[in-house]
Amino acid sequence: MVKENRVAMPDDYIDNPIRKIGILTSGGDAPGMNAAIRAVTRTAIFYGREVVGIFHGYKGLIENNFKNLASGDVSNIIQLGGTILKTARSAEFRTVEGRDKAYQNIKNAEIDALIVIGGDGTFTGAGIFAQEYGVPIVGIPGTIDNDLFGTDFTVGYDTALNTIVEAVDKIRDTATAHERLFFIEVMGRDAGFLALNGGIASGSEAVLVPETDTDLTTLENLIKSGYRQSKNSSIVLVAEGEKAGGAFNIAKQVEQDYPQYDVRVTILGHIQRGGSPTASDRILASRLGLAAVETLLEDQKSVMVGIENDQISLVPFNKAIKYDKEMNRKLFDSIRILSS
Ligand code: F6P
Repeated sequence: MVKENRVAMPDDYIDNPIRKIGILTSGGDAPGMNAAIRAVTRTAIFYGREVVGIFHGYKGLIENNFKNLASGDVSNIIQLGGTILKTARSAEFRTVEGRDKAYQNIKNAEIDALIVIGGDGTFTGAGIFAQEYGVPIVGIPGTIDNDLFGTDFTVGYDTALNTIVEAVDKIRDTATAHERLFFIEVMGRDAGFLALNGGIASGSEAVLVPETDTDLTTLENLIKSGYRQSKNSSIVLVAEGEKAGGAFNIAKQVEQDYPQYDVRVTILGHIQRGGSPTASDRILASRLGLAAVETLLEDQKSVMVGIENDQISLVPFNKAIKYDKEMNRKLFDSIRILSS
């Protein structure tokens, strides 16, 4: 198990047969992916390994879109959003033929192992590929959704959260000026971490998430009592995967029930995926990138590296994807109490 309190030496893993490591980013991009690419590249070089950048995720594996990465290739990228390796969601990699092509390309390029950065879709593909062809693969959690089990935070989440808070603060100004009720939709197809913590940090009146059923009556009562208690604006954060039909539908319903409210909807959209990563995301990505290389060189396979309670943790791909990361239910109460 990788220990961060050990002093690393270039000869530490001299006997490990992995000489060349491929790295790719896949699925939705997340701020901090570049910091992770930099950390993987520099760590692998430190341990005397070669690094091959694979462009456009699994699509690039199939299409042989590779480039050797030297230390200088990852200079000056720690602060950049997006991913210098590009990303994609590959339908072909879901087929046996696609994965076979990918394996042949890896073999021809003499790549011994892979480090993949992404979310649940990325790790699902990695798990299948590793099982079929025996390629050692280690994953780094990179998604703004923070929905992977086995790590307290995923790379990109903190930056997205800060983007949301900045946007909601601005909307609050105009909401207050016009005494309006805003429904603001944030990303999170299956997970409400962005909505919940974005709601706490922006002082929102309510949050609606995919993990719990939306009760319109409770929501309406909450808004009503808020207005009664001297509030002149209300903000409700809605995760895109919320089950009652999303921000527009809920807003329509509330408007019908309470025509006296001046209701508006804002969809924050892909602005949440961009921007320079926060210090927290850069640190997280750097620690995980380093740990991912050491994990590979310690002969671990098919695991995601994470950080739990400030310690590096390893979790098998299937658990990272299938187990639900628990939401702290008390935080929903805090939204209600603190905005009352
Ligand atoms: O998985 C991350 C995520 O940001 C989700 O919250 C969102 O539903 C999805 O990506 C949208 O991705 P795209 O627009 O790239 O298909």
